[in-house]
Amino acid sequence: MHTHIETLKKDMIHHISAAKSAESLKEVEVKYFGKNGLFNGIMRQLKDLSDDEKRTIGKLANETKQVLEARVSERYLELEDALMANLAESEWMDVTVPGAQPIQGHRHVLTQFMDEVEAVFARMGFSVADGPEVEEEHYNFDQLNIPANHPARDMQDTFWVANLPRHVLRTQTSSVQIRHMETHQPPVRIITMGKTFRKDSDATHSPMFHQLEGLMVDTDISMAHLKAVITEVLQQIFEDDSIKTRFRISYFPFVEPGMEADCTCPICHGSGKLNNGVPCRLCKQTGWLEILGAGMVHPQVLKNAGYDPEQVTGFAFGMGLDRMAMIKHRINHLRLLFENDLRFIEQF
Ligand code: DAH
Repeated sequence: MHTHIETLKKDMIHHISAAKSAESLKEVEVKYFGKNGLFNGIMRQLKDLSDDEKRTIGKLANETKQVLEARVSERYLELEDALMANLAESEWMDVTVPGAQPIQGHRHVLTQFMDEVEAVFARMGFSVADGPEVEEEHYNFDQLNIPANHPARDMQDTFWVANLPRHVLRTQTSSVQIRHMETHQPPVRIITMGKTFRKDSDATHSPMFHQLEGLMVDTDISMAHLKAVITEVLQQIFEDDSIKTRFRISYFPFVEPGMEADCTCPICHGSGKLNNGVPCRLCKQTGWLEILGAGMVHPQVLKNAGYDPEQVTGFAFGMGLDRMAMIKHRINHLRLLFENDLRFIEQF
């Protein structure tokens, strides 16, 4: 019996030390000290011994059990310590490492461009007016001297709104001229920028595009003011003081005289050739770019808006913003502006 207990002790001590987790230590405990464990096996055998032996072996068994229990408790602490030490190693973190940056968006290149243009006009005293994209035929055409049967309507292939009689997706921002003059007295100095719509779609036309419209009405406004404003604005937008403008006679029903304005090509600076002598493709070697429509506001349009054409005169102009942004940022395809491809958008 004596050696049996000693062997049991040695074995258990070995198993206790070998236990690598609280769970496996628990298993060792159950195996030795459980109800059907090895120690109780010994205790059951005591009854077959003589009284003397019962006393000595019983005492030895109890003392051994105490020693082993102490060792088990100690081993639990060791395992706990080891676990903590491990955590400190495996779960440490450096709180000074900068966090992961979420991807941050920014304004679209066209929006940025429109803000820049707005700032240029703001510095010259123009304020910003606004109008609806779903517009009444009245403002988009009639009040601008384009009655129902006028051939000028053919120039603007119009989207009519199916469930709203006499409404269109505005074909031009010129509609805002009338809306503004109806509600404001001269002097007027405004621009408006926004979406316009026509049934065009090819490499250089999109069914939705952006226009800028300018309007200045006061006593004694002349074409000299128009030329000065346009030249200054283009020089600032393209950041090039050498830009010149010229007018060619043209026709728009809401201005008289009407004209188209060209500016010297911002890419080749009017020479038709790039620095290395290669012909400039943007202006097709002419040195000039057709950039906007303009004119002196037609007296009938002033009357339509409630102004007296004997008292005030004004100029108006309209230009495509998409093309200007493309020229400024050397973008070669109109679609790029509207496709929302991040590889493109992130460049600006
Ligand atoms: N609305 C014209 C267009 O979309 C552009 C234009 C021409 C606007 C002459 C004007 C202007 O204000 O005076 O083609």
